[in-house]
Amino acid sequence: MKSTIENTVEFVKEKLEGAEAGHDWFHIERVWKLARKIAETEDCDQEVVELSALLHDIADPKFHNGDETIAPRISREFLESQNVPNETIEKVLFVIENISFKNRGNAPVNPSLELQIVQDADRIDAIGAIGIARTFNFGGFKNNPMYDPAVQPSLNMSKEEYKKSNGTTINHFYEKLLLLKDLMNTEKGKKMAEERHDYMLNFLDQFYKEWNVD
Ligand code: ADP
Ligand code: NI
Repeated sequence: MKSTIENTVEFVKEKLEGAEAGHDWFHIERVWKLARKIAETEDCDQEVVELSALLHDIADPKFHNGDETIAPRISREFLESQNVPNETIEKVLFVIENISFKNRGNAPVNPSLELQIVQDADRIDAIGAIGIARTFNFGGFKNNPMYDPAVQPSLNMSKEEYKKSNGTTINHFYEKLLLLKDLMNTEKGKKMAEERHDYMLNFLDQFYKEWNVD
């Protein structure tokens, strides 16, 4: 008989058939592996970590008209069909409902360790070389401009400047990717984020150098 994890892998692969490359099965697989690596260093519920990592993007609101209720609903239905105990289901749903960077303003006061781990794993996959690739893929998917030389985004730009540079893929580095290093929850996550953060800084230097042909 197949394990619950194996069945979940199968379910998620099927659900994400044809997804945008930055949010496809391979993103889930990387986050799953990263989460397992971090979990090794923490005294956590391994099953909750794995199930949450596998289900965390099952119905991203970005691709479902902003509806944040679909993912928890689909996940609960699936986990119930697998006879996963309700206590575990509740813990998994808590992770899925609170993992998003966008909603960090409403972060729970008492995040579970499992949430912290899966969130770190998801954030690590958003930075470094993979993070850069995912970001440009998403920008292309949306037909956004890569960069607008008339507006130079920075980490401490004013609201006005921010608005003008909004919508370019390079701006996404400043509104999100470069902030992630300091938002890591776990020690292991922090360490893993450092190298990838430096790589992005180098990438941006080189990008501007090549853009400004003289
Ligand atoms: P979260 O679900 O944590 O709020 P998102 O799903 O919005 O995060 O972002 C996941 C990844 O999708 C980002 O790290 C980035 O690679 C890509 N992405 C999201 N929004 C944009 C954007 N406006 N421009 C370019 N890439 C984006
Ligand atoms: Ni994700």
